Amino acid sequence: MDWRSNPLNGTLRTTHRLTFLTILVGQSATAAVRIPSSAFAVPGNATYDYIVVGGGTAGLAVATRLAASGASVGVVEAGGFYEVDNGNLSVVPGYAFSDPILAPVEMFPPMPLMDWSLLSQPQTGANNRKIHYAAGKTLGGTSAINTLACHRATKGAYQRWADLVGNSGYTWDNLLKYFVRSTTFTPPNWAKRNTPNATFSYDKSVFCTGSNCGPVQVSYANWVDPSNTWFALALQAIGLNMSSIGFNSGILSGGAYTTGTIDPEDATRSSSETGYLRLAIQSTQLMAHTRTQALKILFTGTKATGVSVNTAGVAYTLTANKEVIVSAGTFHSPQLLMVSGVGPKAALQSLGIPVISDLPGVGQNLHDQIFFSVQSGLKVPSRASALADAAQQPTYLQQYLSNASGPLSSSGGYIAFEKLPATSRAALSNRTQTLLSALPSDWPEIEYLAGSFAGSASTGVTTGDLSAAILSPFSRGNVTLTSASMTDAPLINMGWLSDPADAEMAVAAFKRLRQAWNSSAIAPAKVGTEITPGSAVQSDADILNYIKGAAIQIWHACGTCAMGTNAAAGAVVDYRGKVFGVDGLRVVDASVLPFALPGHPQATIYALAEKIADAILGN
Ligand SMILES: Cc1cc2nc3c(=O)[nH]c(=O)nc-3n(C[C@H](O)[C@H](O)[C@H](O)COP(=O)(O)OP(=O)(O)OC[C@H]3O[C@@H](n4cnc5c(N)ncnc54)[C@H](O)[C@@H]3O)c2cc1C
Ligand SMILES: *[C@@H]1O[C@H](CO)[C@@H](O)[C@H](O)[C@H]1NC(C)=O
Ligand SMILES: *[C@@H]1O[C@H](CO)[C@@H](O)[C@H](O)[C@H]1NC(C)=O
Ligand SMILES: *[C@@H]1O[C@H](CO)[C@@H](O)[C@H](O)[C@H]1NC(C)=O
Ligand SMILES: *[C@@H]1O[C@H](CO)[C@@H](O)[C@H](O)[C@H]1NC(C)=O
Ligand SMILES: *[C@@H]1O[C@H](CO)[C@@H](O)[C@H](O)[C@H]1NC(C)=O
Ligand SMILES: *[C@@H]1O[C@H](CO)[C@@H](O)[C@H](O)[C@H]1NC(C)=O
Ligand SMILES: *[C@@H]1O[C@H](CO)[C@@H](O)[C@H](O)[C@H]1NC(C)=O
Ligand SMILES: *[C@@H]1O[C@H](CO)[C@@H](O)[C@H](O)[C@H]1NC(C)=O
Repeated sequence: MDWRSNPLNGTLRTTHRLTFLTILVGQSATAAVRIPSSAFAVPGNATYDYIVVGGGTAGLAVATRLAASGASVGVVEAGGFYEVDNGNLSVVPGYAFSDPILAPVEMFPPMPLMDWSLLSQPQTGANNRKIHYAAGKTLGGTSAINTLACHRATKGAYQRWADLVGNSGYTWDNLLKYFVRSTTFTPPNWAKRNTPNATFSYDKSVFCTGSNCGPVQVSYANWVDPSNTWFALALQAIGLNMSSIGFNSGILSGGAYTTGTIDPEDATRSSSETGYLRLAIQSTQLMAHTRTQALKILFTGTKATGVSVNTAGVAYTLTANKEVIVSAGTFHSPQLLMVSGVGPKAALQSLGIPVISDLPGVGQNLHDQIFFSVQSGLKVPSRASALADAAQQPTYLQQYLSNASGPLSSSGGYIAFEKLPATSRAALSNRTQTLLSALPSDWPEIEYLAGSFAGSASTGVTTGDLSAAILSPFSRGNVTLTSASMTDAPLINMGWLSDPADAEMAVAAFKRLRQAWNSSAIAPAKVGTEITPGSAVQSDADILNYIKGAAIQIWHACGTCAMGTNAAAGAVVDYRGKVFGVDGLRVVDASVLPFALPGHPQATIYALAEKIADAILGN
């Protein structure tokens, strides 16, 4: 049942011993990882039992489990190794927030080896800004570029999912084994954290700990950002006490230092590539076609039989004996379905694409959570101020290299969840209150995130950044085609703030941010007056205007190939991930989430991938 107890594990096939591609990971030769090059395909026609399109977060998890069953699996991934293509920026947690890949602005710096360079349509609800929406193009996919927070959603959210798709497999109780199976948990290392005012309790019972657990490492960072300790107090002062169990037990209420996908041993990023792929390629018949773009799913009648692909100009066909599994992410999975004839009939016909299955929901139902912040100066250091302090870099590097501690070992952070308190709710319209009342009773409406930037002499060493994310967006966006080719980017419209309820929630959450900053608890650490947006912004209209100009995505877009029961009503896949109206085709990734979950999704996406792999294998 567990990967590492698989009989194949540890026995390198003889061919794998012959040639190795040595990949230098991070900073030291001792961290070098030897990858058997015979697990990487030479371009050319090939046949596999299963073809997985997209070697990302979900894709590598599904592919690895299928391969561990003895099946042959071909993975089609447009990118290569992020350790090579992006080095420390992707590997070292402390650098995660400085990676230019995160830039959400129209004039983003292109990183074509790592990112799909997607730019959204102008967001009419957000001052017509075009948003750069980062999406990992590398083995590991977006798990290789995300900001590493890893936790689970609420019991009520999973129950809602189960109810919507008519399958009890998605309840908390039934998903728990997949959360456990996908991860290895390491408790906090208090000696390395070395911050007595930042201790906490947590719930180990919902994890597997030790050496025989799942592929993705989940741990608490080996360093505490001092500014976080003050944000924790400020949030407590407005009613968000510190949780005694953390955010992995199905309850999101109050605050906590978050668990993250960091291997605590050397404080490097744990991704689906380091977790799943590296195990699979040593002991299974998984074959990765890297730098290879899937262009079209091939059908015989309504049965998916293969994928047409292209590696650096070499076009060829991969044939699937059993199934094609699409894990290309929220933007590219619906695009690939549509160019292959699966999607809204009229839209496909207008581009001359023959329709194989008329599914109106493909590309629709895009959920996207936005966030924005209030900033003030802080006297205390933060991760950002530490990393900006040139004089300290040798010390921090030594801490990181000698025992995986110090600011480079951590990506943050302290986060907190709440349903808006009664005083805030009273200001909401009846319509918004009614919409919110339909959500599960344990659904947190707002998430708060403690962040930082380096400060200045006049505003303190740290520019403290306290953000709020709207976790119950009622606006919907879509992904549509401009052409019948995968070589053209899809059109992305997140629909930000198109539903007035989201604007009301944003204004209410903004006021909570100011309350937290204004609490006496954080006063001893504060310097000066509010930096952003500043005291001139007071009326609801001013606040909303600030949010329209400043809000960005929290990168959790999902829902564009929604799981459900009724294709005519917009469902694209059933509870097993099977695409309606065709055979031999599934989608497994963030696009199948029927709605955006509260909090950060990667833990759920790994669990989903494990669950669907189980379903494919008939377990
Ligand atoms: C900047 C950022 C920060 C984030 N921070 C967090 C966080 O802190 N915590 C958290 O839980 N979540 C976070 N997320 C969200 C989370 O990481 C994603 O939701 C999740 O990784 C998506 O997984 P996926 O399997 O759906 O897609 P991906 O992991 O993106 O995988 C899709 C893969 O398919 C490949 N692909 C696409 N099209 C093709 C094609 N035509 N041919 C071949 N290959 C193709 C891509 O290259 C990619 O490897 C963040 C996301 C971003 C962008
Ligand atoms: C990053 O990479 C370089 C080598 O390319 C190395 O010298 C350095 O120590 C690395 N680590 C960090 C944390 O910057
Ligand atoms: C590869 O497969 C395609 C489609 O099945 C076929 O047309 C082509 O001739 C094959 N190429 C080679 C080199 O076998
Ligand atoms: C907690 O301790 C750290 C030093 O270890 C300090 O920088 C920080 O200001 C303290 N936080 C609070 C809230 O006292
Ligand atoms: C927070 O904790 C304090 C002290 O333990 C308690 O009095 C208060 O009721 C708690 N608040 C909430 C919202 O749970
Ligand atoms: C980690 O290494 C640093 C630098 O060498 C050292 O100062 C610190 O005491 C070490 N911490 C632990 C917990 O070993
Ligand atoms: C909201 O609904 C209540 C009754 O449920 C009503 O009394 C009140 O006038 C409504 N408020 C608005 C602003 O419509
Ligand atoms: C996509 O969303 C935009 C903005 O809401 C809307 O104008 C457009 O009609 C939508 N397209 C489709 C095909 O649904
Ligand atoms: C800040 O706190 C003071 C006193 O504690 C209060 O009078 C004021 O209204 C608060 N302002 C905000 C924006 O919460």
